[in-house]
Amino acid sequence: MGERLAIVGGSPAIPPGTIKPWPPIDDSDRNMVMDSLEGGKHTFGPNCVAFQEEFAAWNGNRYAITTNSGTAALHMCLVACECGCGDEVIVPAYSWSSSATCVMQHNAIPVFVDIDFDTMNIDVDQIEAAITPKTRAIIVAHLHGRPVDMGAVTAIADKHGLQVIEDACQAHGAKHKGKKVGTLGHCAAFSLNQNKCLVSGEGGMFVTDDEVMHKRAQALWSFGEEVGPTGRRDYHVYAMGWMYRNNDLTAAFGRAQLKKLDHYLAAQKENAALLTRELEGTPHLILPSEPPDGEHNWYEYTIRFDMEGLGHAKNARAFRGKIVGALNAEGLSTYIWQSFILPAMMVFQQKDGYGHGCPWSCPHAQAVDYSPERFPMATKHTDWHAGVNTPLRAPNDSEVVKLVAAAIRKVMANVDKLEDLPEGAA
Ligand SMILES: Cc1ncc(COP(=O)(O)O)c(C=O)c1O
Repeated sequence: MGERLAIVGGSPAIPPGTIKPWPPIDDSDRNMVMDSLEGGKHTFGPNCVAFQEEFAAWNGNRYAITTNSGTAALHMCLVACECGCGDEVIVPAYSWSSSATCVMQHNAIPVFVDIDFDTMNIDVDQIEAAITPKTRAIIVAHLHGRPVDMGAVTAIADKHGLQVIEDACQAHGAKHKGKKVGTLGHCAAFSLNQNKCLVSGEGGMFVTDDEVMHKRAQALWSFGEEVGPTGRRDYHVYAMGWMYRNNDLTAAFGRAQLKKLDHYLAAQKENAALLTRELEGTPHLILPSEPPDGEHNWYEYTIRFDMEGLGHAKNARAFRGKIVGALNAEGLSTYIWQSFILPAMMVFQQKDGYGHGCPWSCPHAQAVDYSPERFPMATKHTDWHAGVNTPLRAPNDSEVVKLVAAAIRKVMANVDKLEDLPEGAA
């Protein structure tokens, strides 16, 4: 292809203003939020109660608790599963930071397992080797909206008597064997921040089908009290508690968005399928795939650049930066979702969460090895990937997707021209 790349002065493949922002806002959002504002109850109010019930019904859970973040909901999962001081919790080596820091929030110890390069999720075949007598739970993250093979995970968990926590923060509506994520383990956390498929500004949702887990999570969520904010509280603290409750305005926005979620997810799925068809066969591009026995929600369309084929295996990050810079110049805002694998992050390398080396120095803990070399697939993925999300979300349609594909094909067809450019933006 002879087109001149935009990064060296050519015309961008995607004209400015083409890609519509996320999330789409209409009168249903405005009315719900304004009604809450004028309704006089801005703390945990009627919209919060309704939002929990509606989300539980939508996802197919017995219980849901609306929280102020996905991270709060993850912490609640740890407590629901009774993970405590010195217990080990298995976590994928590549995920959002709080998939792992939630473990330390309850004085437990994260034990990382490498990812499977193809699925980008925890390598299920490596989980058993990471189990020790101290292991209490497995956290799986359905990353980018691709569901983990939960049949295999629950078989391992059942064999060893472990709890399974789903970090479903990115995976609203994704399914494994026809069942929605969040119903496949013992409890789960969803995020509702502005990037997510279901948004409420910031926010989260804890879900479970287990009554006892629900009670434990609820106590942590509201000051360690046994009665929730709508009951007859005695204001007695029975257990360690935080203040993780949602507020009525945010819940009102979330409720309005939940009504549109199925439509959003269908649009995203269609757009992702079209992008795959458009990009198939593009040299040096590794495309994401739909799991054989599940449904991706396409929260993020994650591409990888074949750095070995491109001759940049040794300086993958730097060359990926040039490719991403070129894509951005074409009008496609791709981003690097995580630049570091989790075990390489300072808090794990220094093993100091609360000062004095806690929780790793706690007498209940045993030594764990966070050497980054133990996680080669997570490292390779981190260095090779770039993500696309907003252009595939409603109201962006097939016309936008075709332009996105054209931008990616254009950059990959001219990738040799990036060799001599100064290092890019990523
Ligand atoms: C996989 C994953 N886990 C946890 C979180 C934390 O969610 P929140 O930002 O709502 O706390 C996020 C979102 O950023 C996420 O993507």
